[in-house]
Amino acid sequence: MKRLLVTGGAGFIGSNFVRYLREQRPLWHVTVLDKLTYAGREENLAGLESSKESFEFVRGDICDERVVAGCVRDGGADTIVHFAAESHVDQSIVNPYVFTETNVRGTQVLLEAARAAGIERFHYVGTDEVYGHVASPGRSSEDHAFAPRSPYAATKAAAEHLVHAYGATYGLPVTVTRGSNTIGPHQFPEKAASLFITNAIDGEPLPIYGDGLQVRDYMHVDDHCAAILAVLERGVVGEAYNVGTGVETANIEMARTVLEALGRPASLVRHVTDRAGHDRRYALDTSKLRSLGWKPQFAFDAAIAVTVRWYAEHEEWWRPIKSGAFRAWYEQQYRERLAGS
Ligand code: NAD
Ligand code: TYD
Repeated sequence: MKRLLVTGGAGFIGSNFVRYLREQRPLWHVTVLDKLTYAGREENLAGLESSKESFEFVRGDICDERVVAGCVRDGGADTIVHFAAESHVDQSIVNPYVFTETNVRGTQVLLEAARAAGIERFHYVGTDEVYGHVASPGRSSEDHAFAPRSPYAATKAAAEHLVHAYGATYGLPVTVTRGSNTIGPHQFPEKAASLFITNAIDGEPLPIYGDGLQVRDYMHVDDHCAAILAVLERGVVGEAYNVGTGVETANIEMARTVLEALGRPASLVRHVTDRAGHDRRYALDTSKLRSLGWKPQFAFDAAIAVTVRWYAEHEEWWRPIKSGAFRAWYEQQYRERLAGS
């Protein structure tokens, strides 16, 4: 049995990971540490409170040394899986400082606590965005140089450098996954897929940045979770692993697939002013992870279809978000852009 500290476990991928573990490794004990920012939702973990012997929720900030030390010392955890982050590129363009604080300093606070407690494994949930734009037909393998281009990606890269530095300098047993764009249940509707799906359900326009020909690798969250578990159990300490399906999809194609799945007209697509510094293409070489026996279970169309169905069936989850504080963000980001489209 393991004792995991899962940071950011009330967010999108973290909460899916905790549920995935409940099914795959029911005997493991999980403590979630989450600040519950706008993106963290306690309801994402609904139902888990009942398993008191194997699940605990701590509301707290990963930048708070006392709180973090309290979660890991005296055998509180033998493994840390670190998801907590400010995660949205557009937010990082508007409010970059909080990204440095949480993503970089917060990661270092966790690393220090892990070192002091003699943690058996520190797993960092990283991103393919550290590689920056990748020219076609190239693919980033794990030894590719980092070239982040957004404040979000730069802070994720900086934090990952710290993780490897703690491995090299202090012998902390670290592993890293660098995941591609992930979709699925409970994704905050600021990200492209969840925004497009919820807008499409309401017959609202889908704001496509620029020409929409930017390429992403959209992966179902269960495949991302399975990859993290595979690396925890079979990955080599000190190594990083790319995680993605290898399938390239243009954003405009993703939007059209969403509209088709919902039976909505293609005329809902609106091309709006592009994101500053928008990375044109991410593409990963995932052979290293596949050599651990992992492969994606969801084809692109299936990943979109099940995600669309989840949002269609769980309006009670996303409607309060979209009509709450998110509304101000949406207006600020999109009102003028859509008016000019
Ligand atoms: P998310 O924004 O949905 O969730 C982030 C969680 O972290 C939230 O629950 C939030 O409350 C919590 N958090 C934020 N700041 C915190 C702090 N200071 N202390 C404690 N908790 C804090 O993000 P996500 O999409 O689930 O991403 C999770 C991780 O995966 C991130 O590290 C992200 O960089 C990485 N990642 C995401 C994707 C993607 O497509 N979403 C792809 C690759 C990697
Ligand atoms: P996003 O989900 O924000 O992920 P990332 O920027 O981390 O890849 O965006 C995915 C892609 O969709 C990205 O190329 C930007 C684009 N996009 C839009 O075209 N419109 C939008 O409203 C958003 C949020 C993103």
